[in-house]
Parts: sequence; structure tokens; C-alpha cells
Amino acid sequence: MRAIAVGALRGDPVLVELPKPEPRPGEVRVRVEYASLNPLDWQVLDGSAGDLAPAPQSFPFVVGVDYAGRVDMIGGGENRFRVGDAVFGRAGVTDTCGSYGEYLCVPQDSAITLVPRGLDPRAAAALPSAGMAAAQILEAVEPRGHDTLLVVGAAGGVGCCLTQLARARDVRVIAAVRGDERSRMGSLGAAATVDLTAGPSADALSHACPDGIDALADLASAAPDAFAGHAAAVRPGGIALSTRGAAAGARLPEGVRGVDFRLDPSPVLLDVLAAGAADGVLRVLVDAELPLEEAPQALERNRAGGARGKTVIVVRAPGRC
Ligand SMILES: NC(=O)c1ccc[n+]([C@@H]2O[C@H](COP(=O)([O-])OP(=O)(O)OC[C@H]3O[C@@H](n4cnc5c(N)ncnc54)[C@H](OP(=O)(O)O)[C@@H]3O)[C@@H](O)[C@H]2O)c1
Repeated sequence: MRAIAVGALRGDPVLVELPKPEPRPGEVRVRVEYASLNPLDWQVLDGSAGDLAPAPQSFPFVVGVDYAGRVDMIGGGENRFRVGDAVFGRAGVTDTCGSYGEYLCVPQDSAITLVPRGLDPRAAAALPSAGMAAAQILEAVEPRGHDTLLVVGAAGGVGCCLTQLARARDVRVIAAVRGDERSRMGSLGAAATVDLTAGPSADALSHACPDGIDALADLASAAPDAFAGHAAAVRPGGIALSTRGAAAGARLPEGVRGVDFRLDPSPVLLDVLAAGAADGVLRVLVDAELPLEEAPQALERNRAGGARGKTVIVVRAPGRC
């Protein structure tokens, strides 16, 4: 099978031919049609994922966690899937299978579920990590209706979902981005959009939210100081959450609780998100669609920043032999 893999830790991802993986008891093998790109994909490769995912131990290591495709083989034992089922999900970061490959084996009780009628498989592939993270971040920051949530890095995969899910709960979202994204973020439900190109700006934030911020979801800052700069806008009693492990080492304002978020993938949450996406309540923003061989360049571009929604990788388009 064709796959994008690395031959060593910190190696360059390249297109390779590998044997198809065989499903073990309790697993399904998925013939992957689409994968989507997450920053975790390159963070794992260069060892910068920290506690979020272990560095690969055996090689070749196939990149990627999010996928949509069809069940192609069932391992031994009980299984809730059948050959031919259209499925999507998020694989764990394992040493044997990744979603940037034509076949992927995952446990049948992992974060995998059926693609509902009305959901395009590209959108399904783009949904798992970003959608589940957004939903669980919203739970973690515990907003009440009309609270103000500052989202830093709002224009990327997680941020676009989080903005919509928060808006649906009557939370006032302040989208902090780099560049002029007022139109895009406004269409997703942001009450205000702040350009942080010049760095954390207390003036810009206090102008956008004169009554203060109840919660921060910082999806961008890896450095505790940068995170603390954004958390300075949170009022006492509020929550400052980091998806990049920056909260533990940050000096936060008195009375502000720091949270280092960690995704807990589940098939039930995937079902809820997929139903919302199929109904059009949650828009999955696909920014780019690329063939598998262009995935290495897409990873490099994502590392440099600038994501606007999701990048989908066509691994093996439906109907292609
Ligand atoms: N802890 C967990 O379990 C967990 C789960 C999901 C995601 N994450 C992490 O959360 C982060 C975001 O994920 P994602 O999928 O949304 O990534 P993404 O799609 O690549 O988006 C990141 C966004 O942040 C923006 N950005 C970067 N620096 C910024 C800054 N200083 N101010 C404002 N915006 C900034 C980028 O655009 P510009 O470069 O144009 O500003 C981009 O729009 C990643 O590091 C990911 O690994 C962690």
C-alpha cells in the first residue's frame, strides 16, 4: 500500500510502499479514502508533542490519526462493524498504523463510528480531532450563557469548531487570530475578532471585551509566557486553558485557574458531532484538499502556521482500485 511515513525519529515524511497491515482480534481494517491533517501529526514526528503523544518507537512510522473510509477486513472475535461500512474516526498514535496510508487497523472499540447519511466523507475525515477537542474544551471551560470566551488561534481547525459550538450555547466568542479574519470568524458566530499579529495586546482585548473575559482557550501559545500574556485578560474566578501544555508553567493572575487540556477521544462524541455536521449545525471548514503525495509539503506548511480550517488528504478516492 502507499503511505506517508518516516524512517526514523525527526526523519522527513516521504511516500513509501508498505505491506497492508493485518487486523488483530478486536480490530477492523479500514481502507482509507480521506485523512485530515492535524498539528499533532508533525509534533509527533519531531518529538514536540510532549505528554500528548509518545514519540514513535518503531519504523517505518505512518503519519496521521484522522480518517474516513470503508471497513475492508474484520479481525477475530466480536465486532460491531461489518465489511463495507462507511466509517470515520481518530486512530491512536501507534507504531504500526497511521491515517496517511491506504489501510489502517484500529480497535473496534476505539474512536471510530459510522458516517451518517448526509455527511460528506471529506468532512467526516476533517472532523474527529478538531471537533472532539472543541467539544471537550467547551466542557472544560464551563461557560454559562452570555459568558465571554477568548479563543486564541481561532481560525484553525479546532478554533473554527469551537467558535461555532460556543456560539450555539450563547457564549460570546472573541476570536483572536493573525490577519484580517473578521468576515470568516463573524460568519462562524464570533462576536468580535481581534488581530494579534503584533503579539498579545491588552488594549485590543479590552476594547473587544470591556467587561472582561470569563475564559480563555489558547490553541496557539506553546510558551508559558505567551500563554500568561493572554491569560492576563481573564477575570478572577475565570479559567485559562491551553491545548499546548503551556498552563502548568505559566504565572497566571490571582484567582485564574490554569488547565492543560488533553483530548479524550470517544465514538459517542463522534456520533454527536457527525449528526451536527450532517444537519448543517456544525460547518466543517475544509481549506485545502490535496493528493497523498503532497502531504509532506502540507505538514511543513502547517508547521509554519497560517491554517484556515482543515486540510484534507485524498488517500484513495472512493471507487478507485
Ligand atoms: N491537547 C490536546 O489534546 C489537543 C487537541 C487538539 C489540538 N491540540 C493542539 O492545539 C493546537 C491547535 O490545533 P488546530 O488543529 O486548531 O491547529 P491548526 O488548524 O494548525 O490552527 C492553528 C491556528 O493558530 C493560529 N495561530 C498560531 N499562532 C497564533 C497566534 N500567536 N495568535 C493567533 N493565532 C495564532 C494559526 O494561524 P496563523 O499562523 O495565521 O496565526 C492557525 O489558524 C495545535 O498545537 C494542536 O496540536 C491539542
